[in-house]
Amino acid sequence: MKISIVGLGKLGSPIVAVLASKGYDIVGIDTNPVFVDKMNNHIAPVEEPFLQELLTKHKAHISATTDWTKAIAETDLTTVIVPTPSGPDGAFRNDYVLSVMDEVGRVLANKPGYHLVVVHSTTMPGSVGGPIRQRLEHASGRKVGPELGLCYNPEFIALGDVIHGLLYPDFILIGESDRKAGDILEGLYRKVVGPNANVARMNFVNAELTKISVNTYVTMKISFANMLGEICDRLEGADVSVVADAIGRDTRIGKKYLKPAVGYGGPCFPRDTIAFGRVAQLVGGSADLALSTDTINRRQVPRLTEVVGDMIPGGSTVAVLGLSYKPSTAVIEESQGILLVKALQGAGFDVVAHDPMASGPARTVLGDGARLFPTAREALVHADVAVIITPWPEYADISPDLVAHGRTRFIIDCWRQLDPALFADDCKVVRLGHQETIAVAGKQLAAE
Ligand SMILES: NC(=O)c1ccc[n+]([C@@H]2O[C@H](COP(=O)([O-])OP(=O)(O)OC[C@H]3O[C@@H](n4cnc5c(N)ncnc54)[C@H](O)[C@@H]3O)[C@@H](O)[C@H]2O)c1
Repeated sequence: MKISIVGLGKLGSPIVAVLASKGYDIVGIDTNPVFVDKMNNHIAPVEEPFLQELLTKHKAHISATTDWTKAIAETDLTTVIVPTPSGPDGAFRNDYVLSVMDEVGRVLANKPGYHLVVVHSTTMPGSVGGPIRQRLEHASGRKVGPELGLCYNPEFIALGDVIHGLLYPDFILIGESDRKAGDILEGLYRKVVGPNANVARMNFVNAELTKISVNTYVTMKISFANMLGEICDRLEGADVSVVADAIGRDTRIGKKYLKPAVGYGGPCFPRDTIAFGRVAQLVGGSADLALSTDTINRRQVPRLTEVVGDMIPGGSTVAVLGLSYKPSTAVIEESQGILLVKALQGAGFDVVAHDPMASGPARTVLGDGARLFPTAREALVHADVAVIITPWPEYADISPDLVAHGRTRFIIDCWRQLDPALFADDCKVVRLGHQETIAVAGKQLAAE
């Protein structure tokens, strides 16, 4: 089977690499000629661990083009992984996917034989079986059925872990137009992931609802943990790590994503949760849990800003350590670090910052307002308080000698990576969700 992949971005290019690594011949298509050129020269168009290695190793199976006819006519299956940006009402927009259906359909109008079209992009319930299918049928002059298959197959992958996530998914979600289409896609997955792949097959609308429900359930767990953290900031003697660890031992709950720290960010969690609420609204229902999850998430940056404000006077300098939305990626979409920089500046603090990968993208949104340093050490030298907001592994190695310059008085350790006992009194580690360390910091300021 030959496969065309439309969209060579953050998900599309790793999918090219993984399928090529399993011996499939892949033709990539993108409207961005730079990405097409890079793919043809086997240079990773986006930063993602192991992507470059796979593209180099399996280059014999990979080509790319901007020529739709060549790509679609020469392949049997087309996967579409283009943006579906959120509109002002929180619903995902189908514009890019629909324009791809026009192009794919135009070629399929003159291509004999069976072809399977797979929509990978996240869509609102009702989209794939509704406007997307209509557009494909209209452009191709063919009906979805025995000669033209359509599937919805969204990803649950986290950036920075895309290759591993594609090879070892928790489960594979397939919405299918009919049994034949689903069988072909499931067969492909069993070859790529292994015969024991955990595959859930259903109609389009159930699959669309499942995709955003999974992410909304996960964000609900994160917000629950953070709500607990907010209580533990203030409850005498409370330590949220102890409580969350114990709760997670209950097998009905589990430890995954029950880690109190900062809010969630990135290109999926915030918008999938909001879209879930929008779906409920559109059908006249309610999504109270999703709305509360979002509300709790939005107050995590103000919570941190308040903790900082209780430690040092306005005009002091704060180092924000971590600007990407999670470790191992340069993506800053909905990043809590970026939001914190802006909130601290708004509260009158001078802000310095560091991130191992995301300084470039961060500079484009922060401008000259925040001074970005190439190392955490340099950022700390300028800071009265530091906040570790993204749990990059290198921040777990921050040791007392990095703050031996004497200026940094508190490190707010949102992910509780540091051992407070290692730090002397002149630079205390404050653990978010640990009432005692927060109170000690507050008292120290009051005493001065
Ligand atoms: N990034 C994630 O973590 C993630 C996770 C799960 C699902 N998704 C979903 O995957 C989809 C794509 O996300 P992404 O992060 O890969 O986006 P991206 O912006 O990184 O990449 C999209 C690519 O599509 C190309 N493109 C746009 N319109 C095109 C067209 N008409 N024809 C051909 N190419 C076109 C763009 O040039 C770009 O290279 C979205 O629906 C997103 O919600 C993303």
